[in-house]
Amino acid sequence: MGGSQTEPEDELGTSASRRSGAQATEHEHLTTVFPMLRAENLTRIFRSGNEEVVVFENLNLEIRQGEFVALTGESGSGKTTLLHLLAALDTPTRGEVYFFGERLGGFDVERRAQYRNRKVGFVWQLHHLLSEFSALENVMMPGLIGGMDFHHVQARARELLDEAGLGQAAGRRVGELSGGERQRVALVRALMNRPLLLLADEPTGSLDARSAERVAALLQKLHRDHGLTSVLATHNAELARRADHALRLADGTLTETVAPGAR
Ligand SMILES: Nc1ncnc2c1ncn2[C@@H]1O[C@H](COP(=O)(O)OP(=O)(O)OP(=O)(O)O)[C@@H](O)[C@H]1O
Ligand SMILES: [Mg+2]
Repeated sequence: MGGSQTEPEDELGTSASRRSGAQATEHEHLTTVFPMLRAENLTRIFRSGNEEVVVFENLNLEIRQGEFVALTGESGSGKTTLLHLLAALDTPTRGEVYFFGERLGGFDVERRAQYRNRKVGFVWQLHHLLSEFSALENVMMPGLIGGMDFHHVQARARELLDEAGLGQAAGRRVGELSGGERQRVALVRALMNRPLLLLADEPTGSLDARSAERVAALLQKLHRDHGLTSVLATHNAELARRADHALRLADGTLTETVAPGAR
């Protein structure tokens, strides 16, 4: 695994785009051959008691490195379910998700944890930050849990908060931040461990229009500057407009819709 632990000074000294390339090189030879993510005949059925909820069956999907994909669909259509499967937070009933051609289902416990913690950054509708801790401490958390050097983690967290326009708020407790500011903190926290893939579940869902617009703009900027591949579930047309592709989930099928702002 490309090492923030092993080469902290190198990573600190390089530009944002080159840093994000640190993990990318590991997969460089694969990206021309395989899409970053491929879902094949993906099926998720929930069973509780005698009841069966078929969320979707035989879903197929390909996401190539660098793409910015908006996932839309009505409430209950399965957006969160799909994101959880792509993040290996859940296991499909049938079918497979491939990451650069490798089956997530074939990963052992350790590789699965590594995939979730190092390859994927996840942002939820509600920020899931620790409200008693400062913005800076929250952004540092995934790095410290990952065993990275404290000073390196702290410097990176400051840099990320600056990128989110929150440099001044770094020392403030999350409980003292606005909803939009919290969501921006949650966004950069997801980038602490330099993921390749950013999955966001209605990141603007609980925000007013103006804060949502700022979060959407930050998402787009981070996507570009960090060389990310991003998949966002959203009801927000403004956010969907910023994507390269818009996919719509309805009645268990996924269809490509032309993004309103398609270039
Ligand atoms: N753990 C579970 N057990 C049983 N049913 C579930 C479970 N999780 C989700 N579901 C069902 O699966 C369907 C899809 O849910 P999901 O949360 O993926 O939808 P969604 O598109 O994210 O909706 P929203 O826009 O409201 O967030 C729903 O009918 C939901 O009730
Ligand atoms: Mg959802």
